[in-house]
Amino acid sequence: MSEHQQADADESTADHTSEKLVELAKRRGYFFQSSGSYGSVGGFYTFGPQGAALKGNVEDAWRDRFALAEGNMEIDAPTIMPEPVFEASGHLDGFDDMLIECPECGTSSRADHLVEDNTKYEDAESLPIPEVEEVIAEYELACPECGAGLADVAVENFNLMFATNIGPGDSQPGYLRPETAQGIFVEFPRLKEYARNQLPFGVTQIGRAYRNEISPRRSIIRTREFTQAELEYFIDPEEDEPDLSAVEDVEVTLYPATEQNDEDGDEIETTIGEAVDNDVIASPWVAYFLGVAKPWYDAVGVDMDRFRFRQHLSGERAHYASDCWDAESEIDGNWIEMAGFAYRGDYDLSKHSEHSGDRFTVFKQYDEPKTVERATVDPDMSYLGPEFGGDAGAVVEELESLAGRDRAAFEDETVAFELEGETHEIPVEKTGFAVEAQTESGEHIIPHVVEPSFGVDRLVYTVLHHAYQEDEVDGEERTYLELEPEVAPTFVGVFPLQNDAELESQADDIVDDLREAGLSVTYDDSGNIGRRYRRQDEVGTPFCVTVDYETVEADETTVTVRERDSTDQTRLPVDELAETLAAIRDGDLEFEDL
Ligand code: GAP
Repeated sequence: MSEHQQADADESTADHTSEKLVELAKRRGYFFQSSGSYGSVGGFYTFGPQGAALKGNVEDAWRDRFALAEGNMEIDAPTIMPEPVFEASGHLDGFDDMLIECPECGTSSRADHLVEDNTKYEDAESLPIPEVEEVIAEYELACPECGAGLADVAVENFNLMFATNIGPGDSQPGYLRPETAQGIFVEFPRLKEYARNQLPFGVTQIGRAYRNEISPRRSIIRTREFTQAELEYFIDPEEDEPDLSAVEDVEVTLYPATEQNDEDGDEIETTIGEAVDNDVIASPWVAYFLGVAKPWYDAVGVDMDRFRFRQHLSGERAHYASDCWDAESEIDGNWIEMAGFAYRGDYDLSKHSEHSGDRFTVFKQYDEPKTVERATVDPDMSYLGPEFGGDAGAVVEELESLAGRDRAAFEDETVAFELEGETHEIPVEKTGFAVEAQTESGEHIIPHVVEPSFGVDRLVYTVLHHAYQEDEVDGEERTYLELEPEVAPTFVGVFPLQNDAELESQADDIVDDLREAGLSVTYDDSGNIGRRYRRQDEVGTPFCVTVDYETVEADETTVTVRERDSTDQTRLPVDELAETLAAIRDGDLEFEDL
């Protein structure tokens, strides 16, 4: 099943959790549709105060693991780039979805989605357009909005890039980047210098990407503006090996393409080490990053019983990828793609090298200098000039290239070559062709790229969905978000029990202390204490501290600390509070041990 299909199937079968989560997200300030006062437009969401903090914490956790802990660089490139970048990357030509427009009501739909949702075809994205049109006619598919028949309606390719003009007029077209990756690739000639021309090295970027999705849906799962956290890891494919020993024992659920294609196929439980040994994951580098990602997803709060890596089917892969595994999370009984781990080979650097004329290579020094035979040409310009006029320069370039790739072409008395679609023949003696022994200390190679590409919004949605819990406390229904302390937007809520100047002043002091200890704190003095607990439970705040009369009257100043998930309470001395809570946040202490 393609990721699009999964997200959409997800929508059609969404249970109450998603509905309730989206409602909670709006009410508590996680996320909501943007520009509501103007009627909103599909595919754009604003993260409210809680959502922005959660998203920021997830991004920080990603940065810690994939940039800092791995020793990779981080950059921050522009989101608008000039047209030639996307001509080179292939996005202008190939970054399309299949569009069908209802002739009656004008609703635009993804044709492949219509087919996948309503027929036996599971991967319509990989079918050619005429075949999709045939299936629509055969199944007499109708517009999902008004029910009009779509049998004779043409399906068209729709490019997902958002176009703009750079500066006044339209002489310099630009595009909003559809992936942060291109901002890294185009800067490779400089970035390799920062890496001292040594492979392997990695460059990360966390930033916005834009896709003019035909039908954005399911809140922040498919939007038109979203955040990606991407790592482009540049390797020498012949020399560099990952340190698999660091991840070989990581247990993973894998759903390889072979299993998906087999009627009786199923997910397999294995370890990263076994998956490489058994060729289930072809690239050890892809396997390495899957091994790094799995415990990281666990740490930020993805439920590991609802998590797997699924390999792309051959028709599903992007134009640049030779292999790709997605990290998927289960939401309401369906799988959504949270990240892709692609082997991009030398596709991007080769394309940018061809189109820009700049050098997207790294000089690879040999251990020992090598003597190699090189075919060279030194054409006689007094012959080429009169023969080819203004094209003489192009002829020299073609002869140089031909000598490099096909020495045999110079074996006879004349050599034939192509120039602008025409074949020419000239005497070999006029080309200065020679084969010489040269001693070389190294060679320029185009690195290969391994790319872990994370969607931050889908991860935030998953973390919230997997954290969503309902239970009963003191005979009352309760909703709470079981967020990991590492990512929870607020770590502790502080409440004075009642509106009392003495309690409030003590609570203010506690807030200051906790903030000084680097904890994220909220102060709340409105409503009864039960309501305040419920509010923080819904926001997912792991701990609440209540300042009561015992705090201000007893000899030893103590407060009540309540844990969100168990609702257990304990009393702690105020002067130990900040240190104790910070230790819990850092994973050095458990609440149960207090
Ligand atoms: N550089 C590779 C790349 O962009 P992708 O699979 O197209 O690969 C990577 O995107 C991730 O970005 C996806 O796994 C998903 O989490 C996220 N993503 C893609 N399109 C999205 C959309 N329209 N809305 C939200 N997230 C999206």
